[in-house]
Amino acid sequence: MNLTVKIGKMVMKNPVTTASGTFGYGQEYAEFVDLNCLGAVTVKGISREPRQGNTPPRIFETPCGMLNSIGLQNVGLEAFLKEKLPYLRGFDTNVIVNILGGTIKEYIELAEALDGRVDAIELNVSCPNVKKGGILFSSDEAIFRELIREVRKNVVNSTLIVKLSPSASSILSQARICEEEGADAISMINTIPAMAIDIESRRPRLSNIIGGLSGPAIRPIGVRMVWEVHKTVRIPIIGMGGIMTAGDALEYILAGATAVAIGTANFVDPTTTMKVLKGIEDYMRNHEIEDFSSLIGGLIWDREGR
Ligand SMILES: Cc1cc2nc3c(=O)[nH]c(=O)nc-3n(C[C@H](O)[C@H](O)[C@H](O)COP(=O)(O)O)c2cc1C
Repeated sequence: MNLTVKIGKMVMKNPVTTASGTFGYGQEYAEFVDLNCLGAVTVKGISREPRQGNTPPRIFETPCGMLNSIGLQNVGLEAFLKEKLPYLRGFDTNVIVNILGGTIKEYIELAEALDGRVDAIELNVSCPNVKKGGILFSSDEAIFRELIREVRKNVVNSTLIVKLSPSASSILSQARICEEEGADAISMINTIPAMAIDIESRRPRLSNIIGGLSGPAIRPIGVRMVWEVHKTVRIPIIGMGGIMTAGDALEYILAGATAVAIGTANFVDPTTTMKVLKGIEDYMRNHEIEDFSSLIGGLIWDREGR
């Protein structure tokens, strides 16, 4: 069976990766998962300077999912390059580095420093723009376009992926902008802004009040968005949001995802990535499918939706 997929220049031996922020820098999971078996490891979002993140509580379990407001805690670019990347480079897998910044300049500096040293750079655009009163880069289409255009100029050797936010006013126009500005791929979806309240104390469950909802609760939204984006643009999509099993991953793939990322499920069962991969292989065997790519966007539908 051939499970190879291509995302920009990056060739993945299989379509399974991890979702940023849920798999540390790889090392934290190496006791449970043979990293050599993954198509890629996507690491926690990196900023130019180290970040402490928000004060606890930063995580709250909800029906079929969780809320998080980690606040993009990370070791920063320098420590990542010195301490984390060499470890990951010891494995036969691709390394995707998620980056975040408060200004376009910060994103450019990160992209410049990482280009050619990692297989792919994934832009987290769900970050506050400090020069525009803290509105998210994903909330203003002109800035969103400028961000991708400027970063693209500085990413010449690595693959450039843009991670879309489901709360953008139009995910389809953002997907079109990604394609027009030369991004190699789209990853989606990021978490959905949400909140929960402790009715006894009348206080929010998270210190940050609002957090991002992830897990199976958001999966049908992710699948729908991947399907719509797949019909709109030609660049490949890495699908994520609530994937717990191979069946869930296959929903994303049939909707149009070329690869899939496992996020919250890693907290429930740290071996989920391996199980999803095995389940995809079993499905291909059972359905006598030789080439994985024939499944991508393989949804059968007509106008009535049957
Ligand atoms: C604890 C936690 C931390 C996350 N950190 C990041 C991050 O640093 N950068 C990013 O782009 N997405 C981050 N995400 C979003 C995930 O990568 C993913 O898009 C989202 O959780 C949906 O997938 P899931 O339902 O499988 O978790 C984080 C999610 C969680 C739960």
